[in-house]
Amino acid sequence: MSKSNANSRLPRSKGIDMATLYTPKECAKKVKRIVLTPDNRRIVEEFMTIMGMKAQFEEHDVPIPNKLVLYGPPGTGKTLTAFYVAARLELPLITVRLDAIIHSHLGETGSNMRKIFDYAKGAPCVLFLDEFDAIARTRETNDEVKEMARAVNSLLQCLDEFDCDSILIAATNLEAELDQAVWRRFDTKMTYGMPDETSRQQFIARLVGEFAHEDGLQQQAADMLTGSSFADMEQIVLKAKRKAIIDSRPMCWTHMEEAYREYHPMGVIAHS
Ligand SMILES: Nc1ncnc2c1ncn2[C@@H]1O[C@H](COP(=O)(O)OP(=O)(O)OP(=O)(O)O)[C@@H](O)[C@H]1O
Ligand SMILES: [Mg+2]
Repeated sequence: MSKSNANSRLPRSKGIDMATLYTPKECAKKVKRIVLTPDNRRIVEEFMTIMGMKAQFEEHDVPIPNKLVLYGPPGTGKTLTAFYVAARLELPLITVRLDAIIHSHLGETGSNMRKIFDYAKGAPCVLFLDEFDAIARTRETNDEVKEMARAVNSLLQCLDEFDCDSILIAATNLEAELDQAVWRRFDTKMTYGMPDETSRQQFIARLVGEFAHEDGLQQQAADMLTGSSFADMEQIVLKAKRKAIIDSRPMCWTHMEEAYREYHPMGVIAHS
């Protein structure tokens, strides 16, 4: 790598870092168990292929995509995908929570945003804007209309000027609230949803791993966890493992079922 941001500090606002940096190694560690839908896997693989063919794209004068937007419900792998892309590209990941930069004075949101984009342009990285909807809400529906309109305009400008070797990834729960002008600027879109049966089976197999368990438990768990997000499934399987360890015996249906009930103490069962 010719350039590095190693010596330049992460942009700050009022003495607080506005972003967090993860090395490619740290990213790789987090994504070992990632499960992607076939569609999303295909999109990511194509993206990687393009990254490896930059010269050919330039030769044909076809722009290289560098802006991805991910949308879907909580706990379905949007943030994890940002780590995954960074790990695959062996680039550092810089994560920014947009809601952390918009609580500032008039006009400051835009200048904070510009600082972050400039930093990301300084050396190849994956810039990850989490809670993207916080800033990119449709201009008409916001209370602080003027400041937000200004912020959205700065964002549009930053997006347009993001012509560099870095990658931008934005994640949101609220596709509908995204400003259409912002939405249009992304060349790659990925959608996330609750895991289907195959994804649940895959994920449970990865979570259980070598941990001793009764025959058939994985399938029972995959059925019971219909309607749960990946994040919920992870917590429930971990709970069940703890119970098995306390009992000093292989993980069984009782552990799994109890873990599920304790995870939903108010009786909120996702799929009922
Ligand atoms: N597709 C997935 N494959 C494997 N693990 C997942 C997946 N999605 C979520 N997880 C697990 O759940 C945790 C939370 O997921 P993640 O932070 O990616 O969710 P998110 O979609 O970004 O949610 P939010 O909208 O709340 O930010 C992850 O750290 C991981 O352990
Ligand atoms: Mg997230």
